[in-house]
Amino acid sequence: MDKQGPVKGKAMNELAVLEDATIMIKDGKIDWIGATEDAVDIQADKTIDAKGKLVTPGLVEPHTHLVFGGSREEEMALKQQGVPYLEILERGGGILSTVNATREASQEELLEKALFHLDRMAAHGITTVEAKSGYGLDRQTELKQLNVAKQANEKHPLDIVSTFLGAHAIPPEYKKDPETFLNIMSDMFAEIKAENLAEFVDIFTETGVFTVDQSRRYLQKAKEHGFGVKIHADEIDPLGGTELAVETGAISGDHLAVASDEGIRQLAASDTIGVILPGTSFYLGKDTYAPARKMIDQGTAVAISTDFNPGSSVTENLQLIMSIAALKLKLSPAEIWHAVTVNAAHAIGKGDVAGSITKGKKADVVVWDAPNYMYLPYHYGVNHANTVIKNGEVLYERQAILPIKENI
Ligand code: NIG
Ligand code: FE
Repeated sequence: MDKQGPVKGKAMNELAVLEDATIMIKDGKIDWIGATEDAVDIQADKTIDAKGKLVTPGLVEPHTHLVFGGSREEEMALKQQGVPYLEILERGGGILSTVNATREASQEELLEKALFHLDRMAAHGITTVEAKSGYGLDRQTELKQLNVAKQANEKHPLDIVSTFLGAHAIPPEYKKDPETFLNIMSDMFAEIKAENLAEFVDIFTETGVFTVDQSRRYLQKAKEHGFGVKIHADEIDPLGGTELAVETGAISGDHLAVASDEGIRQLAASDTIGVILPGTSFYLGKDTYAPARKMIDQGTAVAISTDFNPGSSVTENLQLIMSIAALKLKLSPAEIWHAVTVNAAHAIGKGDVAGSITKGKKADVVVWDAPNYMYLPYHYGVNHANTVIKNGEVLYERQAILPIKENI
């Protein structure tokens, strides 16, 4: 797995796999990788025996809503009764209910909760995470969320890439005046940049949220302030967000569940990465999944993600999403591995340091309780991580309840 990415189209199905390999780590970085028989004169302070086990780069999670207050388990009954996601939002629930909980929570409470979710991600083999704001929808709370992501990055071993998603919904106080609301959010760009609180700016381009025109103008301003841009595009209604992602040179277009054929064509011809979030289709009970198969067949670099958030995809387990990608998106195991490593890293601007086991990159490596790379999507819904290494340090080790030898 030493390919430099992003890996596009058909190449996603060509995985570099070494049998019987050795990885050497020095000063938190990959120092060497190759055939074990070539690894002569190894003098290591510590060795980890991964015999018979799959070893991969740490998973990269390119799209989460990590920092939020509260939870929304009561919405599940509404969804079961068939109330659509956008209608729950229209009624003041959904994202807006999390906005209330996030406004009420203290910075300390939000940090504690974010660290808890990060621990769970780490235990599931994730070593780099993107985290969006967007549950404040006012200056003070958006800054609170961004500061929590910053603190979490400092305190937690996982690397966090921060995205400003102030344009996640229209708060009730600006329901009739979304333009003013967007101006308030874009007025924060200079400060966020100066304080290094986010690397990317994202917007939810959707019916009842922000139009394509509003999104275009907002993202243009973000680019003028030096931000990379991302879009929640064509998630529920096909508005042309995929085309807008290409037009604005977004680093990624995310969701793309109902992207048009023209959007797919443009995406394939661009450098924008398609970040696909099949957990949301699954969790919102939709029959429509993003046309990821078509995208890859036409040449797109695809990444996949949990979209971890309290409403449309409530899981930190990217391994589960890998299985959904196999079952519903019809991606091959090789494509899925590229989608959760090198392409995911490039989708958040970390392709030079994460996403593959390459000399000089961060030593973010996972040993799995799996005999080969095809096994993870196949055996679904559980955690296969055996040992998770972040920057060369063991972060998580699976504990046997009764060591097997004693058990026999
Ligand atoms: O990516 N689509 C908009 N935002 C999130 C959901 C957020 C929520 O429901 O709290 C998403 O699906
Ligand atoms: Fe999202």
